[in-house]
Amino acid sequence: MRIIKDIREMQKFGNENRQSGKTIGFVPTMGYLHEGHVSLIKLMRQKCDVLVVSIFVNPAQFGPNEDFEAYPRDFQRDEELCKEEKVDIIFYPDAEQMYRKPYLTHINVEKITETMCGISRPGHFQGVATVVGKLFNIVKPHYAIFGKKDYQQAVVIKQMVKDLNFDVEILTGPIVREKDGLAMSSRNKYLSEKDRKKALILNKSLHVARNLYEEGISSPGMVKMQMEQYIRNEEGVVIDYIAIVDAEDLKPVKEIDKNTLIALAVYVGDTRLIDNIIIGR
Ligand code: PAJ
Repeated sequence: MRIIKDIREMQKFGNENRQSGKTIGFVPTMGYLHEGHVSLIKLMRQKCDVLVVSIFVNPAQFGPNEDFEAYPRDFQRDEELCKEEKVDIIFYPDAEQMYRKPYLTHINVEKITETMCGISRPGHFQGVATVVGKLFNIVKPHYAIFGKKDYQQAVVIKQMVKDLNFDVEILTGPIVREKDGLAMSSRNKYLSEKDRKKALILNKSLHVARNLYEEGISSPGMVKMQMEQYIRNEEGVVIDYIAIVDAEDLKPVKEIDKNTLIALAVYVGDTRLIDNIIIGR
């Protein structure tokens, strides 16, 4: 396994492998890897000849009052995990190189970024789309994979790839959860023992929604109200949003039918967590 920090060197590696007919698979991450990331690495390992994982805590996707500084980092551990998973290259650039001054160009995907996480995190998806677009131009992958845990992010990236004709195929991987149902996230590290228990409310409320649907309730308003009531019973937990939308275009649905995404963001103490489920298939 090689660690590449230099953008030009990464591009050269990408070009050479493309020219020699090797398929390049790419897993973009912000590091502090957990089993969710590892599941994507494993899926991609099967798909490609050369596997690149990027580790870059992207300042552009954090708001001014968000957790960029506090975001957990442990490169050594990440390196060991990548070695175990037979990763070929870790691309590990620094922010100075990625956003060489003056930095003036951004990718802005419209509409689908103006809902859900886009409301409480203005600028977040612009930061994500910009960095992922840059990473595609640097790594030159044939395939890139994103987790359904960040469902809206995957939809935004697919739209960007289509609109801007990036020559890469986007794959998605399922949500990996802890045994008790909590979706894995680097941010779970912020949770105290007490809050860790409270955080189960996200997944549990999604099960409430699924049960209601299976009992024949398909009104999004009704399901949302029941989820809100359920979550409000838990002290110290504040709902950011609950969205019941079409899983393709993220537009609100009139009825929970086929392919409906129920997604939510919740503050548990100071920690903002997200989760989602697709029902109605
Ligand atoms: P990060 O939060 O590190 O996540 C990297 C990838 O892992 C994303 O595609 C995310 O959806 C996926 N992932 C995280 N937790 C998961 C889980 N429990 N199950 C399955 N997949 C999971 O997402 C980002 O980084 C950044 O926004 C990035 C795309 C790297 C751009 O900076």
